Amino acid sequence: MNSEFDMTDKVAMVTGASSGFGVNFAKILAARGAKVVVAARRIDRLEALVAEIKADGGQAVAVALDVTNAKSITDAFDAGEAAFGTVTVISNNAGVADGRSALKATEADWDLVIDTNLKGVWMVAQEAAKRMAAAGVGGSIVNTASILGLRVSFAQSVYSASKAGVVQLSKALALELGRKGIRVNALCPGFFLTEMTEMLFNSPQGNAFLASAPLGRPGDMDEISSPFLLLASDAGSYLTGVALPVDGGQCIGNM
Ligand SMILES: NC(=O)c1ccc[n+]([C@@H]2O[C@H](COP(=O)([O-])OP(=O)(O)OC[C@H]3O[C@@H](n4cnc5c(N)ncnc54)[C@H](OP(=O)(O)O)[C@@H]3O)[C@@H](O)[C@H]2O)c1
Repeated sequence: MNSEFDMTDKVAMVTGASSGFGVNFAKILAARGAKVVVAARRIDRLEALVAEIKADGGQAVAVALDVTNAKSITDAFDAGEAAFGTVTVISNNAGVADGRSALKATEADWDLVIDTNLKGVWMVAQEAAKRMAAAGVGGSIVNTASILGLRVSFAQSVYSASKAGVVQLSKALALELGRKGIRVNALCPGFFLTEMTEMLFNSPQGNAFLASAPLGRPGDMDEISSPFLLLASDAGSYLTGVALPVDGGQCIGNM
């Protein structure tokens, strides 16, 4: 891989690092030399990930984080900073799904999805940016949005609204934070097998949908790694305010 993807001496935080994309992002950052703060609610899984990263020669620390709770966010940044110094690379990745139809979604569904996927992303990004600005350093914030932030699909109204919010938030933050040397981008994955998408991958209808992408298949976890690193690392030093689909062409759609 290109040396511009090198992350040596960078301090990174990955939210939602207890499963799925977050595990992958934490491992690839650590493999390229970053000191990685892995954060989520299931601390046992984070400890196992840290052990794996250390066994491979990397550096990582586990911190408990609930992105819906402002105090938990400041505590997580305090713990990460105490371990490794100012965090300058953020994978703002924690998220929850919602699959209820428009007429069945409840206020509780709305609150959970928006609080986690949109307000949580905003609070983590703001805390990160405040700390970078106070330390006088720039950095890179990569918000995990979705192609459902760019397009819509059945039974995804609440989730799509949350992810469209993340896309627009990323652009607005990029505008305001650019002069401080802080880049903000949105990664917009199509469909990859994680705990969130297991049901889709395990049903015949789901598989037919996944095969409808122009490339004819869902993504392999490895295929999100380089696009993520492009946004996170200095390889993307002139990229900010971008919403990058990584979806085998799924969001092109077929009229
Ligand atoms: N898989 C896909 O095809 C796909 C496509 C587009 C976008 N995405 C997005 O990718 C991101 C990662 O999802 P995934 O597919 O990897 O699913 P996943 O395996 O279910 O992972 C979700 C992660 O979010 C964390 N999380 C949820 N609520 C949290 C909270 N309140 N505070 C802190 N962490 C929280 C979970 O950790 P704890 O439960 O331990 O806290 C878990 O680590 C999400 O933003 C998702 O919307 C996924």
